[in-house]
Amino acid sequence: MTPRELFLAACRRERVPRVPVWIMRQAGRAMPGYRALRRRYSFLELCRTPELALQVALEPVERLGVDAAIVFSDILIVGEAMGLSLELDDRGAPRLAGLEPTAAGVARLRTFDPSEETRFVLEAIELLARSVGRERAVIGFAAAPWTLACYMLARHPTENPATDARRLLHADPALLAGLLERIAVATAGYLRAQIAAGADAVQLFDTWAGELSLEQYERFARPATLRLLEELAAGPVPVILFARGAAHLLAAMAGLPVTVLSVDWRVDLGTAQGLLGGTRALQGNVDPCALLATVDAVDQAVRNAIGRTGGRGHILNLGHGLHPDTPLENAQAFVRAAHAVTLEP
Ligand code: CP3
Repeated sequence: MTPRELFLAACRRERVPRVPVWIMRQAGRAMPGYRALRRRYSFLELCRTPELALQVALEPVERLGVDAAIVFSDILIVGEAMGLSLELDDRGAPRLAGLEPTAAGVARLRTFDPSEETRFVLEAIELLARSVGRERAVIGFAAAPWTLACYMLARHPTENPATDARRLLHADPALLAGLLERIAVATAGYLRAQIAAGADAVQLFDTWAGELSLEQYERFARPATLRLLEELAAGPVPVILFARGAAHLLAAMAGLPVTVLSVDWRVDLGTAQGLLGGTRALQGNVDPCALLATVDAVDQAVRNAIGRTGGRGHILNLGHGLHPDTPLENAQAFVRAAHAVTLEP
């Protein structure tokens, strides 16, 4: 079985000889080649130049031996394609210019043509798919509607990005629901284009889902995510839904038509598996801080995570993104440890 086949089989919860592994934020600041490129190019130049984005996406495949390559881009790119300007702050980090939280502000958002406004992302996926061939899986991604709404509405960079979206939830619930629906429809078209360009799977990042109560999630974030999934109609392509701080939302998320639920380090994988009753694969969830410790700690964390699921329907990953200060040898140990665990036939 190729790593790509392993990855796709694990998404379908089929028996596999070992657990497939990749790392959220594997293409980024923990990689020495990325840091060198960032001395010559801005973050947005890297995103918008397919040949450079390809180089960044391939680095963790080559250095770490991960089973899947994620396209190098950012969730905020969709906000820009919808008409908000995307700029770099003084630390070089991307920031969306705030969306005016009024009916007029939401009405000004565009439904964009992915092959025009985000052609560079599609080209990066085409290059990546051609480059890894059928050996490794290629993952495309976007933000879940709630999380992109948080970044669109956030007015104070130092605050929690969800605060202004939560304010709107109380001040004008209908406006928030309308915004979430606009994002859902636009994102579905964007992800369909990524699949057409060669993505083997797509992941939705709902980084700020955990800021919502169960009732709020069910009233706002979940219907928008469902709308996105219905419009996406991904067919045979697996859809992974990542949510952070969302142990209280797991049952609500489990009812969504996704293939894989990606959970953070606070969730017990065994409990989650029981709750899902074998209907969804799980992705995760080693604490990214384990990779800031020792190779031994990494080994133990990997064996513990695989032990919790028995390796069935499990894609090993971190519970959130790779910390930029992670020593390369610890990231390598993470992948090596996962590859070393053989599963019962
Ligand atoms: O996973 C990968 O390796 C692929 C690339 C990727 C990036 N961002 C590159 C990036 C992915 C999948 C993302 C998703 C993303 N972007 C999320 C969801 C995942 C998560 O971490 O919760 C979010 C919330 C964003 C938005 C974002 N991007 C912020 C708020 C920032 C600034 C803060 C920071 O971490 O620097 C970014 C910047 C960003 N996105 C960098 C990279 C490599 C760092 C840019 C740099 O300084 O070089």
